[in-house]
Amino acid sequence: MRIALFSSQNYEVPFFKQAIEPFSALEFCFINESLNPNTVALCQGYDAICVFVNDIVNADVIATLKEYNIKTIALRCAGFNNVDIKAATASNIDVVRVPAYSPEAVAEHCIALMLTLSRKTHKAYNRVREDNFDLNGLLGFNIYNKTVGVVGCGKIGQALVSILNGFGANVLVYDPNIGEGPYTLVSLDILLAQSDIISLHCPLNEHTYHIIDDAAFAKMKPGVMLINTSRGALLDSKACISALKSKQLGYLGLDVYEQESELFFKNHSEEIIQDDIFSRLVSFPNVLVTGHQGFFTKEALKQIATVTCENLNAARVGKPLLNKVE
Ligand code: NAI
Repeated sequence: MRIALFSSQNYEVPFFKQAIEPFSALEFCFINESLNPNTVALCQGYDAICVFVNDIVNADVIATLKEYNIKTIALRCAGFNNVDIKAATASNIDVVRVPAYSPEAVAEHCIALMLTLSRKTHKAYNRVREDNFDLNGLLGFNIYNKTVGVVGCGKIGQALVSILNGFGANVLVYDPNIGEGPYTLVSLDILLAQSDIISLHCPLNEHTYHIIDDAAFAKMKPGVMLINTSRGALLDSKACISALKSKQLGYLGLDVYEQESELFFKNHSEEIIQDDIFSRLVSFPNVLVTGHQGFFTKEALKQIATVTCENLNAARVGKPLLNKVE
């Protein structure tokens, strides 16, 4: 089975080379380009494709994949909002994914964002390197006894809840699909109104697009901290800018961004960023952005490569696809 792996990065290649060892019939071609309607021609001659979060697998791309007789799309991530599942099903193309690859990696990254924003360790690091030991401007707050709202409590949300309980936080959860647990289940409105910190862990779909908009900010406590490590379009970025300017939003930690496909996973340091909304966001002193690195631990990369190879091999030999997206 020949597989075109798009958006390939140097750091993941060794993990795939190791994971492929038990599967001699699989053969990866690592392609740096991302997949989109302009690059889909690169898929010709392959049996399957392997894509990541910012590859665009829309109906047009899928129509071409069908023409090329490609039978499997293997997502090497959990989210699948970038794939038109209906179009793939209609074209008889299976879509498989890696449903969990260290949810703890993302949950721990959330905590890194929360603590950095609160305790300003990024600023302290720079100050101390210049022999500046002044504490003015570095005042933080405890997570202990704070109310933290978790929107979406699946694998990552649950891992975060465990950590937050360890901190001694009062954890509220809004998730329409789960039952009792080590948290207080509340409506979204109550979560927004009562939380000192809000962290988003629901998938992006038609119900959750811009779940945090101007109206949601108006319901929050003034000075609230908001963390998004899920998908960029859960947040209305313009509403974030207004809320930051009015100080309704006191801290913003992002690992994802609505228009991240233009920016993330590449070095743009020699260019002029054309996205004014992004540039405005990163200009605030109380905003911390990381470039979709929540998943980026050795443990998670190993799991991604292993499960992706297992998914592709199952498709090759016609075994049941345990990680198929329906
Ligand atoms: P999951 O499927 O285990 O959990 C999602 C939870 O959200 C479920 O419990 C579901 O009931 C809930 N949910 C669905 N609709 C909701 C709504 N309208 N409001 C509130 N909750 C809702 O997914 P998992 O593994 O926890 O991942 C969550 C998201 O994290 C993924 O969709 C993905 O977008 C993102 N992610 C980000 C990564 C990163 O590197 N930053 C890495 C992996 C995932």
